[in-house]
Amino acid sequence: MRGILTRLEQATGLDRTSERVQQVVAAAIRPQRLRDVLHGVGLGHPLHPALVQLPIGAWVSSAVLDLMPGQRRAATTLVAAGTASAVPAIVAGWNDWASLSREQQRVGLVHALANGVGLAMYAGSLAARLTGRHGLGRALGLVGLTAVGGGGFLGGHLAYKQGAGVNHGVPELRLIEDGWHAVADMSALPQHELLTRRVDDVAVVVYRDGDDVTVMLERCAHQSGPLGAGEVTTVNGRTCVRCPWHGSTFDLDNGEVVHGPAGTDQQVLPTRVIGGVLQTRLP
Ligand code: FES
Repeated sequence: MRGILTRLEQATGLDRTSERVQQVVAAAIRPQRLRDVLHGVGLGHPLHPALVQLPIGAWVSSAVLDLMPGQRRAATTLVAAGTASAVPAIVAGWNDWASLSREQQRVGLVHALANGVGLAMYAGSLAARLTGRHGLGRALGLVGLTAVGGGGFLGGHLAYKQGAGVNHGVPELRLIEDGWHAVADMSALPQHELLTRRVDDVAVVVYRDGDDVTVMLERCAHQSGPLGAGEVTTVNGRTCVRCPWHGSTFDLDNGEVVHGPAGTDQQVLPTRVIGGVLQTRLP
């Protein structure tokens, strides 16, 4: 299985399809606000993995009811609920997929294909059940559940092996020792400029506004992009840093994600000034 997954990650033949699909997704989901909602910006957590619980739960439950006598109606209701709730989950998934790395997009493409087959099977299952062909409906449901199971397995590979959708900054916190660390002399910090410094070999971004100084992890939560090379921008009156890789935008005051594709906040570290020296520590 590992060999198959590695070959899939390296399947460059999928890249041309990925490019075309990426253009379609970009054209279909244009408004920034909609993209942010689908990334989970308002939640501070990716939306897609939360939404997929609804169709999977409904479809698995319908399969259990299919094994029990006298439950046709309840099973049909669950198949309908799963099919309807799969649509927003799929839209959110494509929206996240469009800003993944090449290797992640290859796996994501097959993940989406498997789930698309699953959705088509369940739509067919629903149609069959509603027209009284419950045997066919059960059979199509089983095929759909198998496809969705395969898609879910690839989704797990994307998240847990390839790191799609996880916060790429936070693991770096484990490399910082407890206690306060000197970052820079306050007299050497310019106003309103991004500086990159290191704390125990972990890169941090330092931004000064008057006497207020923010220290945040430099590796972007989305895909480890270098925020130190980003640009300072203003969004709704909030001073933010925009990542140079895919445009995720974080409030420079508290690290809150303002625009995706990052779905989680950027980690900000506590600060203090002792004897004119800026210090920081783990939260
Ligand atoms: S790495 Fe993708 S937005 Fe920063």
